[in-house]
Amino acid sequence: MNLDELNRRIVDIERETADAAREITLVDSLRSLDSSVLGKTGSLGLLIANIKEYPPDQRGQVGKLVNEAKGRINALLDTRMAELQSVASAVDDAQAREFDPTLPPPPKPMGSIHPVTAVQWEIERLFERMGFTVEAGPEMESEYHNFEALNIPASHPARDMQDTFWLTNGCVLRTHTSPVQHRAMKKFGAPLRVIAPGRCFRYETIDASHENTFHQVEGLMIDRDIGLPHLIAMAKTLLTEVMRRKVKLRVRPGFFPFVEPGIEIDMNCEICGGKKCPTCKQSGWVEILPAGMVHPNVLRAGGIDPDEWSGFAFGLGLTRLAMMKFGIRDIRVLNSGDLRPIVAPVRVAGPIL
Ligand code: FA5
Repeated sequence: MNLDELNRRIVDIERETADAAREITLVDSLRSLDSSVLGKTGSLGLLIANIKEYPPDQRGQVGKLVNEAKGRINALLDTRMAELQSVASAVDDAQAREFDPTLPPPPKPMGSIHPVTAVQWEIERLFERMGFTVEAGPEMESEYHNFEALNIPASHPARDMQDTFWLTNGCVLRTHTSPVQHRAMKKFGAPLRVIAPGRCFRYETIDASHENTFHQVEGLMIDRDIGLPHLIAMAKTLLTEVMRRKVKLRVRPGFFPFVEPGIEIDMNCEICGGKKCPTCKQSGWVEILPAGMVHPNVLRAGGIDPDEWSGFAFGLGLTRLAMMKFGIRDIRVLNSGDLRPIVAPVRVAGPIL
């Protein structure tokens, strides 16, 4: 590089350095710029290292040119460094002044009630207003309570309807909340109004609407002259209240050995609005509330005279109802421990119509 070229190169380096320094707002970035210009392999550093390559009679002049440039660049970077440091310390001062140790700590992110629990509590309050008590039953149940007391003897094919987890002690993980029917009859006798929310377990193939662990709410009302119209009216009240609006229902016959007659109350799928989706198994309807009139054998097993008393029972699919209420498409989310996918409910329930 001859002297003319060297001069032009020095002018370029000084201009580029000044432009870059003006853009920089952080002290550390300015230090990096310093070493990329003045460091041994920096743009000006290389010119300094190159002085010895010039003929001896030019070295003095070349040395003078690059060293003066080095001085100007140093001065420029020092000025900019002073500006940045004074801004940084002003920010630190302001932050220090803003810290008030007498203030309470900032709020921690709070969890919220699990959607199934929220719906369960709502149903408990609703039924308490209608004179029902809330009972709990054991999750590890005897075979007698889970099946026999409910008119399902060992040989009955209805046992196959519920894939059961059998325990080595001969008990089962209850497949439904219906065993609480028998326990409540024994405990309170007739007349009786009780609901029993709780977890149930089935050895199921899991999909968007089936879990091996899910919640039901059992309902039982025993009195004189109770009939199917009471049951249907109660089902409408329950689902309207939880969904905060009228819900399209479908009633069809259903078989359960512990009721006669038995019915299935399905609700229009809230996920697809009845248009058919994986959550409703492409049917447009969701099985939500199987029910019926309590079978005389079940009343008898509970110590209640079927000639004097009658009653209805239902086994609400609580987990599925929570899915419908909050627009949750896949039941697996609810047991996953990570509810972030459903933090914002898809469908917000409106006022009761
Ligand atoms: C029963 O469990 C009966 N005990 C209900 C009953 C009670 C009938 C009283 C008559 C009188 P079913 O197996 O259909 O019925 O289950 C009831 C509800 O629980 C279903 O409608 C569904 O909403 C829910 N359910 C059943 N299996 C599962 C599952 N694997 N995952 C999620 N929800 C389920």
